[in-house]
Amino acid sequence: MFVLATANAHKADEMKAVLEEFDIVVLERPASVPDVEETEDTLEGNALLKARALVDATGHPALADDTGLFVEHLGGRPGVYSARYAGEGASYDDNVRKVLGELDGVPASQRRASFRTVICAAYPGGDSFSVEGVLEGSIALKPQGEKGFGYDPIFVPDLDRGRTLAEMTSEEKNAVSHRARALRALAVQLASR
Ligand code: IMP
Repeated sequence: MFVLATANAHKADEMKAVLEEFDIVVLERPASVPDVEETEDTLEGNALLKARALVDATGHPALADDTGLFVEHLGGRPGVYSARYAGEGASYDDNVRKVLGELDGVPASQRRASFRTVICAAYPGGDSFSVEGVLEGSIALKPQGEKGFGYDPIFVPDLDRGRTLAEMTSEEKNAVSHRARALRALAVQLASR
């Protein structure tokens, strides 16, 4: 049994849906546990920070994820700073607009990007490990689709027919996504421990 660090309902739903396939039971973060500030400059560092804080607060094993969108033409930005790319308190739309603005005039062939998720499992007593999931794709010329969240409307995975993640059902997204891949790697690690 793990407590989930995320307070983001979209992410919690995606994580629960995939972990259920592996009979891994997760509990949502108790409302009494405050958010942790992401002060590290790597996904690994932030995932560990969040998981460890939750173990300390609850006494239970915890799972925390940290995700970033890495755009090649932008030197890997927004990367670790994906949540607040357009500034403190930025909305998903603000962040999407900023990325599209920075890629204005950049041709399709130079819009390569990847989503990376690191999930950290931490235990009372100090043990922890991390796994990673990557989804390769490119940034669309304009937002497409209403589903999902974050940068989903502008991310086109390589393995689909040119649709963005926001045009996929949650089942379709979970079959390919960076977060689902990290969760499957997590399940493999847990099974071998
Ligand atoms: P976090 O630090 O893991 O919460 O993720 C940082 C930011 O990346 C979020 O605020 C979203 O904007 C974006 N993000 C994370 N996961 C996804 C996803 O699956 N699709 C689209 N955007 C995402």
